Amino acid sequence: MKLPVLPSILLVISTAHAFQYSELVQYVDSHQEEYVEALREWVAIESDSSNVLKRPDLHRMMETTAQKLRQMGGTVELVDIGEQELPGGIMLTLPKVVTARFGNDPSKHTVCVYGHVDIQPAKLEDGWATDPYNLTDINGNLYGRGASDNKAPVLAWIHAVEAYQALNMELPVNVKFVIEGMEETGSNGLDTMIMTQKDTFFSDVDYIIISDCGWLSRQPALTYGTRGNCYFLAEVEGPKQDLHSGAYGGTVIEPMTDLIGILDTLISPNGKILIPGIREAVAPLSDEEWKMYQDIQFDIDNYKKKIGVSQLMYSNKVDLLAHMWRYPTVSIHGIEGAFSDPGTKTVIPSKVTAKFSIRQVPNMDPAMVKRQVSDYLHSVFAKRKSPNKLKVTMVIGAKPWLADPQHPLYEAGKTAVKRVFGMDPDLIREGATIPIARMFQDVTGKGIIMLPIGAFDDGPHSQNEKMSQYNYIEGTKLFITFLNLHNNAFVYLHPKHIFPFFIRIFK
Ligand SMILES: *[C@@H]1O[C@H](CO)[C@@H](O)[C@H](O)[C@H]1NC(C)=O
Ligand SMILES: [Zn+2]
Repeated sequence: MKLPVLPSILLVISTAHAFQYSELVQYVDSHQEEYVEALREWVAIESDSSNVLKRPDLHRMMETTAQKLRQMGGTVELVDIGEQELPGGIMLTLPKVVTARFGNDPSKHTVCVYGHVDIQPAKLEDGWATDPYNLTDINGNLYGRGASDNKAPVLAWIHAVEAYQALNMELPVNVKFVIEGMEETGSNGLDTMIMTQKDTFFSDVDYIIISDCGWLSRQPALTYGTRGNCYFLAEVEGPKQDLHSGAYGGTVIEPMTDLIGILDTLISPNGKILIPGIREAVAPLSDEEWKMYQDIQFDIDNYKKKIGVSQLMYSNKVDLLAHMWRYPTVSIHGIEGAFSDPGTKTVIPSKVTAKFSIRQVPNMDPAMVKRQVSDYLHSVFAKRKSPNKLKVTMVIGAKPWLADPQHPLYEAGKTAVKRVFGMDPDLIREGATIPIARMFQDVTGKGIIMLPIGAFDDGPHSQNEKMSQYNYIEGTKLFITFLNLHNNAFVYLHPKHIFPFFIRIFK
């Protein structure tokens, strides 16, 4: 007997929410200046996690974040995650992780927003046009270190919650925050914290939202995958000390020659990884993926211009995107112990250590990659019949992360993007590594969605990083819209959700 009533219930609900929604959007529009001021205050704090001298600023940044969430009435904790050991054995206190909770209604979904408020280093002398810690508006772009990565997105999430509060509207979901201060140096201590709180803080979390990445083009995007990374050191050790090339050159087998020789066997000039077993482990590109890549807007000429090269490894879009996101690659980063100062020192270094990394994709396994690389380098080294000693170690082994872009979470993301930006998002992957995504997934088993609001040209980690006011403000609306979909009948009309919807209606 209840069924005929349903359409009218739906109508009442959606009318009420349409009204509520437009109020929220108006609220965001009329508070833009406040939001920019908040970002200015955060950017002014030099929360550089890589510089030990800036650690007091980093602690202050975490405290400022916690204070903001406390003022909003959240249940806030500053979680002690211990210390880090610096080279030389000095111990340094890690910035506490901020956790917060808004709402505790067991009949609602609980979402957890992850973000970070530490930054990469920046100095005016690096080539910034403006003081990196004095947020500067030029033509609607807000320049400052950390503006895009990740302070504005974190603030946008906070402001999304604040808008509901200011309008005395009930949050459609319970919202939790996990904000850390060591992301830029590898999220030290976060994995332990997540594991420790798996059955407490994270136990009622339904899914995790990460907004720590950017769009690919002028089109908004949803990110559904990231590459992992295995970082290697290959050390070749020979004579007991550095030697004069005039006196000893021609008599000793030089470690540097050995090292360059084996490094040159890792990858071919056209980008083919030569380590046996690596390419075989990569999941094949499906027709569906090929089609998706085909539909993505990607301006190759612009990309070349941005990085200042005349030729790329591939000349067509699908190959380029595929190799940026879903194929592994080897990059050689440097050689420790090699002479690199200005001038012409004629040294034969006695011990040199190459640093290289291999970006990981499904279905590679870092433990397997470690063995493949080590076995292969030792085998090519053995062929050289060198008396020098080779040691290969893997110092980072971060797995890739991949979500299903058809999952209801992503369907909700697409709906929210369409509503705010009036267009469909690009479904993209990220070539870089966001270890937290995979870590969350492995430890908590929860769904994850990446909802970026940074523009393609924000320049995170680079000089003149910026966040446009447009992206910051529309991004705040995107987050509100995404949360608000939980209120809205149509999201639950997805076949997979029709049941929870009825349960909710009649609860
Ligand atoms: C930031 O830059 C503006 C414009 O150049 C300047 O007026 C202001 O004093 C600067 N603020 C700080 C804190 O340096
Ligand atoms: Zn970041």
